[in-house]
Amino acid sequence: MHMYDILNRKRLGKALSREEIEYFVQGCTTGDIPDYQLSALLMAICIQGMNQEETAWLTMAMARSGEMADLSHIPGVKVDKHSTGGVGDKITLVAAPLAAACGVTVAKMSGRGLGYTGGTIDKLESIPGFTTQLPPETFADIAGTVGVCIVSQSGELAPADKKLYALRDVTATVESLPLIASSIMSKKLAAGNDCIVLDVKTGDGAFMKTLEDSRALARAMVSIGTRAGKPTAALITDMNRPLGMAVGNALEVEEACRVLCGEGPEDVRRLSIEVAAAMAWLAQKAPDMETARTLAAEKLRDGSARERMEEMIRRQGGDPKVVRHPEGLPQGRAKRQILAASSGWLGAMDTQGIGRCSVLLGAGRETKESSLDYGAGIRFAKTLGDSVKQGEVLATVYASTDSMAEEGAKALEKCLKITETQPELPPLFYDWITEEHEKRP
Ligand code: URA
Repeated sequence: MHMYDILNRKRLGKALSREEIEYFVQGCTTGDIPDYQLSALLMAICIQGMNQEETAWLTMAMARSGEMADLSHIPGVKVDKHSTGGVGDKITLVAAPLAAACGVTVAKMSGRGLGYTGGTIDKLESIPGFTTQLPPETFADIAGTVGVCIVSQSGELAPADKKLYALRDVTATVESLPLIASSIMSKKLAAGNDCIVLDVKTGDGAFMKTLEDSRALARAMVSIGTRAGKPTAALITDMNRPLGMAVGNALEVEEACRVLCGEGPEDVRRLSIEVAAAMAWLAQKAPDMETARTLAAEKLRDGSARERMEEMIRRQGGDPKVVRHPEGLPQGRAKRQILAASSGWLGAMDTQGIGRCSVLLGAGRETKESSLDYGAGIRFAKTLGDSVKQGEVLATVYASTDSMAEEGAKALEKCLKITETQPELPPLFYDWITEEHEKRP
């Protein structure tokens, strides 16, 4: 087989065979195929696309390019949850212990922040003492006994994706549906769970800006998961505003803990229940989604989910008291308030811009090497659709230095638009996508 022929066939819009796909993924993993040929192929795929079969083969080949985690020795049905990335998205921090309280085993490998979107591992590491690096036996033991354990994704998982992702990042080939779907799903399949729940974000703060593109991505990923024998469901959720009222690592942990304690913003509560219910439904802990929703709402209300979170934090080295007393979490020393310049309604939030502000404040990474400020971020006092009076506080920013807080506040001000009329609110979530239409949650 020759890489030249594979390139030529994809350039002409032909479908690649399974052998051709396995050949270039193997060559990518071993380093035998040079970057210029891989980059040319990525561009050809970006322009010509891939059919469902090719996308599934690419996913499987990338999943098998490294370690395939085996979770079969951990008791229970293991269900994974993945978000395509958002701003203020702390749903895993609530939905994972909540699903555990519903009887699901959550043995989860999560990632760090990517660009302007946050990552679960960075958030959890803002809890003093919490470790996300555990020996496999400890990971299995905590997941098996507590029902939930979240660790950092191993570098050995899907190394071909790691290589291709780095090339895509610098060759303008990130925004390709088959490449995004296979990149995400290769890591999900390698993580070894039995079922997968996907939260596909849509809107200005998401990778996919339109509902149509988000639906297509969700369909592609559900099809890949199902073909691989893993029951998979995807929920399309809105990202035209940040989730909840907090953006930033410790601030988001605090908000998630408040939801687990029965308080906190309604959108975070509703979405967490919906995701945890789908995890319970896929794990057959409830006969249908309606019963699963009732079960999840009850486990949140009666404190069982909070107890799972406290136990997970304790077993992973942190102080479980932070759940009820978040004062123990870091908070940026420098603060600035953003005040409403006029009266009206908070009519638009530039969600991607807000994500970028949180990076400026120190909550995300400007470069791969940047270190995070766990206490940095934004606490909103108002959200999309709220009425505001001139001079009222819209948000407070937190950073480690006055100049960073000043710069972040100036940037944030530009992301919040006050309108004279009340805006129409987008729905929190749009639709569930599953492989068989009649089996929709
Ligand atoms: N996240 C991934 O892991 N890969 C993509 O291609 C996009 C988002």
